[in-house]
This record gives sequence, C-alpha cells and structure tokens, in this order.
Amino acid sequence: MKIIRARDYDHMSRQAANIISAQVILKPDSVLGLATGSSPIGTYRQLIEWYHKGDLDFAQVRTVNLDEYVGLAPEDEQSYACFMRRNFFDNVNIYPSNTNIPYGLNTNAAEECAHYDAVIQKLGGIDLQLLGLGPNGHIGFNEPAEFFTKGTHKVSLSEATIQANKRFFEKEEDVPRYAYTMGICDIMQAERVVMVVSGEAKAAVVREAFFGPVTPQIPASILQLHKDFTLVADEAALSEC
Ligand code: F6R
Repeated sequence: MKIIRARDYDHMSRQAANIISAQVILKPDSVLGLATGSSPIGTYRQLIEWYHKGDLDFAQVRTVNLDEYVGLAPEDEQSYACFMRRNFFDNVNIYPSNTNIPYGLNTNAAEECAHYDAVIQKLGGIDLQLLGLGPNGHIGFNEPAEFFTKGTHKVSLSEATIQANKRFFEKEEDVPRYAYTMGICDIMQAERVVMVVSGEAKAAVVREAFFGPVTPQIPASILQLHKDFTLVADEAALSEC
C-alpha cells in the first residue's frame, strides 16, 4: 500500500489525476473503473482540463462504473449514469459506447449482475480502479457485512449510507434503498487501485480501514492486501493516522 499525502482536496485531486493520466498515456485503451460521489469530482475536473489542453486523449479508453441505484433510469438526474455524463463523460472524448454502468431499471437482479460481471470480463478486467471511501468503510456499495462479497450484486443500502447520500436528494425518502454494485472480487482483481479521500470527517474511517485489521465490517480494509493500492488522501483525512 502506498500513501500519497496531499495538502488539501485540490492537491489530492491533482495527484490522483496524475496517476490516471500516466495510465492513459502509457496504455491508451485502458479500462478505467470509475466512481461517483464528492471525492472524485476534482480528479475528473483536472482530467477534463488536461484533455482540453490537448495533453490527454480518451478516444480508446473504456470505462466501468462501480455502482448504480436500483430503480433509477440512466436519464434520472440522481442516477450515477447522469453524474458521470455531467462530471466527466460529456466533457472529454470518451465514446458513450465505451462506457458501462449497471442498469438501474433492470428488475431482474441476477441477470443484471451476471451481465455486468460478463462485461468486465469481456473487457479483459480493470487496469485502474478509482475509489472513494464511504463513511462506514464501504467501497462501491459493498457495505459492512459478515463476509466479503465476490462479484456484482444487489445491496440494501445501510442507514449510514442513506444518511450520507441524502444530501444529493430533495428528501431523504427519495434516496433509493437498493443499488447494484461491483463486488470486492471485481475491485481486488483490478491491476491498480487508487482511492481518493478528503476531509476530517473521514479521518477515523481511514485509520480503521488502513491501520487496523482486515475485516468485512470495514470493507475497504481488504485493500491493504491489494498488490498495487495507492491511497491519495489529504492531511485532514490522514489526521488520525
Ligand atoms: C460511488 C461509490 C461510493 C463513494 C463513497 C464516498 O460510486 O461507490 O463508495 O465513493 O460513498 O462518497 P463521497 O466521495 O461522496 O464521500
């Protein structure tokens, strides 16, 4: 595990964007595993800026997103599909047909999950997976549990996650209760994993996840065992380590 200590959110975002840029420059047809949430927005912003300067080309890049809310159409403003278009895809030259996100409207969970794992496999696996860290230690929507999950599956979101994500919705009742998420195995099989974490509110969970025992109660802790994991965190997030 490598730790890059950043000064603040913007510095963290530039450091993470540097790693992703190097990946895309060295392997233009990289498969990038992508995340939503507040943490990676600055990273996407930086990549967009470098793309506009002519330093980056995403024409051959393929992407797979970690997760999507069950019940939301890709056109829904709150869907992760919409988040990705708004914050990244519509601002660079990634072909929409090269982007993949679980389909939230598929009511057949078994079918959707098997299909998504097949998509990842057909792409040849993930070259670089970008992650954020949930306040309860979740990665993707792999919530604290008795065991680590393997492939893509449907999860019931924990109360902590519903509370953390309600800021994106008008009312708490609007937060979907279920999501499709890549499993821990999908994430661990990525060649490289880069996590961005910022802010004092995440300091305790960063300590527990990366300086405590590996346990499914803190799903991110398994990343301690990944062969190429880089934590890019700002000073506030590392303040308890
Ligand atoms: C998002 C995702 C989640 C978030 C996590 C942190 O696709 O999979 O695991 O990365 O909830 O969210 P923020 O960055 O909003 O604190």
